Amino acid sequence: DRAFKLGIAGLGTVGTGVVRLLSEHADLLAERSGRRIEIAAVSARNPARDRGIDLSGYQWCEDPVDLASVDGLDAVVEVIGGTDGPALDLARASLDAGRSFVTANKAMIAEHGLALAESAERTGAALAFEAAVCAGTPILQTLREGMVANRIDRIEGILNGTSNYILSAMERSGEDFAETLAEAQRLGYAEADPALDVGGGDAAHKLAILAALGFGLKPDFGSVEVEGIRDVRAADIAQAERLGFVIRLVAMADLERREDAPARLLQRVRPCLLPADHPLARIDGPTNAVLAQGDYAGPILLQGAGAGSESTASAVVADIVALARGDARPAFGVPASSLESAESADSGSR
Ligand code: HSE
Repeated sequence: DRAFKLGIAGLGTVGTGVVRLLSEHADLLAERSGRRIEIAAVSARNPARDRGIDLSGYQWCEDPVDLASVDGLDAVVEVIGGTDGPALDLARASLDAGRSFVTANKAMIAEHGLALAESAERTGAALAFEAAVCAGTPILQTLREGMVANRIDRIEGILNGTSNYILSAMERSGEDFAETLAEAQRLGYAEADPALDVGGGDAAHKLAILAALGFGLKPDFGSVEVEGIRDVRAADIAQAERLGFVIRLVAMADLERREDAPARLLQRVRPCLLPADHPLARIDGPTNAVLAQGDYAGPILLQGAGAGSESTASAVVADIVALARGDARPAFGVPASSLESAESADSGSR
């Protein structure tokens, strides 16, 4: 078979991880895909920067959106990030042109995923975003394929590694949030701008995607109630511990199915008390975990890295292999037109 040709937009931490993985595992991936996977074109802000990878032989596009129209590409991979801007322009241009699109962009999928899935279906392209939720921990594939025979009406998880790292560190050191965040930033576990992570927004993006895929609903990021971990104090953690609990930033989606009325969906991200023996209470450090409740499979717990160059590349390349095999599935498990709307249930009404 002829090679499966990619254009890659973004050569930061994730992009270089993808390039490295495609090269280091080229033979294995060819065997598993049934054809070789090749990078044909790339776009990155700074073409000259030394990334420690060989970029010779690729066509360079100054404007990432141009990747949508490079001749002969089978798919475009977006690892630029950002809700709007070039990532969204590229997604729209690629899918409108009937070109399959792989992304790690949780913010964009949480906010624009439905419209993008509709575009993909209109043109027969595929849209794939396994890396957007928990990086290389394959939760979307588990919900979509492994649990396909189940009704799922509850998903909870620890979806932000930075916050979990900070809460776990506070537990150990007895120090307060601000000092622990500063230390996490010094060690590289928290970004210079930690607002999305410790504010809960990053977990909310992932939760909206999980709820859509798990429950068969249109993604509804706007109705996620969000509270981050900035107000958690050392004293709260100590008090919780005395009572046999730990504090974790829990993302939870709960669906109440109703006869003759739209289902009611509760989505929230907030610091919660968990009994010390709860499966999510044992998740320590910069790890992600998701607990999905299947009516036949029972509770399924998946845990692993939720960030980082290699873990994220693992998921991006899994999506690429599925496309190369001709195995693409609808982005949210079912055609976008079959996704239902739910009423948002705020916690006060239940
Ligand atoms: N910054 C995120 C985290 C990873 O700490 O989990 C990317 O969503």
